[in-house]
Amino acid sequence: MAMGSLPACVVDVGTGYSKLGFAGNTEPQFIIPSCIAVKESARVSNKVARGVDDLDFFIGDEAQEKPNYSVKWPVRHGIVEDWDLMEKFMEQIIFKYLRSEPEDHHFLMTEPPLNTPENREYLAEIMFESFNVPGLYIAVQAVLALAASWTSRAVGERVLTGTVIDSGDGVTHVIPVAEGYVIGSCIKHIPIAGRDITYFIQQLLRERETGIPPEQSLEVAKLIKERFCYICPDIAKEFGKYEADPSRWIKLYEGLNSVTREKFNVEVGHERFLGPEIFFHPEFSNPDFVTPISTVVDDVIQNCPIDVRRPLYKNVVLSGGSTMFKDFGRRVQRDLKRTVDARLKISEELSQGRIKPKPMEVQVVSHSMQRYAVWFGGSMLASTAEFYKVCHTKADYDERGPSICRYNPVFGTMQ
Ligand SMILES: Nc1ncnc2c1ncn2[C@@H]1O[C@H](COP(=O)(O)OP(=O)(O)OP(=O)(O)O)[C@@H](O)[C@H]1O
Ligand SMILES: [Mg+2]
Repeated sequence: MAMGSLPACVVDVGTGYSKLGFAGNTEPQFIIPSCIAVKESARVSNKVARGVDDLDFFIGDEAQEKPNYSVKWPVRHGIVEDWDLMEKFMEQIIFKYLRSEPEDHHFLMTEPPLNTPENREYLAEIMFESFNVPGLYIAVQAVLALAASWTSRAVGERVLTGTVIDSGDGVTHVIPVAEGYVIGSCIKHIPIAGRDITYFIQQLLRERETGIPPEQSLEVAKLIKERFCYICPDIAKEFGKYEADPSRWIKLYEGLNSVTREKFNVEVGHERFLGPEIFFHPEFSNPDFVTPISTVVDDVIQNCPIDVRRPLYKNVVLSGGSTMFKDFGRRVQRDLKRTVDARLKISEELSQGRIKPKPMEVQVVSHSMQRYAVWFGGSMLASTAEFYKVCHTKADYDERGPSICRYNPVFGTMQ
């Protein structure tokens, strides 16, 4: 490490969960819900009232258990919406969770694609002025996810060019990256992510009247999703399989009624594959959006400059909790390949055989760091000497102000 001896803090605040830890580790130390509970009476955004109940708030799992507090989520669809709450949130992340002196650690924080320069300035203000950090780098989540996928590749293939499918709780993005730069104009977002799959499963279970206590139905749907769901190659055939041999496919969820303390059981059947199928058939749950995820990926790459399309098809990288369904990568790979091959065939036919297009290699990379890919990529990069060179420093900040953080230089392409 070039500066100081303490590792950098790596903080990835997502819509649903925040991942916190120290550079160089393979896993975040803490994964907590990105929520904060404040006393009903304390109006956080009202500057006059601030300071009174300043310490009277909780974040993460603790926040969800407090009566007489209202629970707020400062991040929506990946973007911070309430900076006063964000500051409080960071305060507890640093002092209560990481138990660090912020003066002693550089910080790597993450941002979604298409975050605004103003948002970077707000973050810089909080980190440098309220917490006095010596250095700050704000990294684009997709670029970190690309770096995370290196764990599954040969050294020579460690590139920062690829298409990232980042699917978390609140949003799914498809982001093309060329040599560490996001091709911003070609990003597409899909209004289907973890939360939508949970709602869809909740609705399927409700229709079957499975006897789940209504106030627990969301939590149960989420657990069922995370534990039992998978992606199938073909839903018609999958229904057939369940029909032919139900005992082989149906799973049992055992729950506990939180009020009566009585046990209840749910037989989990078609939900297992129908839930995440909405990535591929979004119309099952959303009448306004009908494009399958593989088509979105194809559209994104087709919109990019022609010379990067090959490397973008060749390195489609998965990131985020909602890409964890078994066989997710396999299905995207198959469907994307079909689309690409069909297009090549058409152009061959149109030319009446005169053009023989070169086959397109399509490779969807599943890797062991997928669940926390963004955090892990941050942990890797923030443990290099190069990180300390690209970090914005407190001295720069004091001299030139928050605008230094409007842009962050690309790094991580060196081996
Ligand atoms: N094993 C699993 N299978 C399927 N889904 C999972 C699994 N583990 C976690 N999830 C889901 O992943 C989602 C959280 O993912 P992640 O932590 O990447 O999101 P986030 O960073 O908080 O949100 P965003 O990136 O949208 O801002 C939740 O919906 C959760 O239910
Ligand atoms: Mg995320």
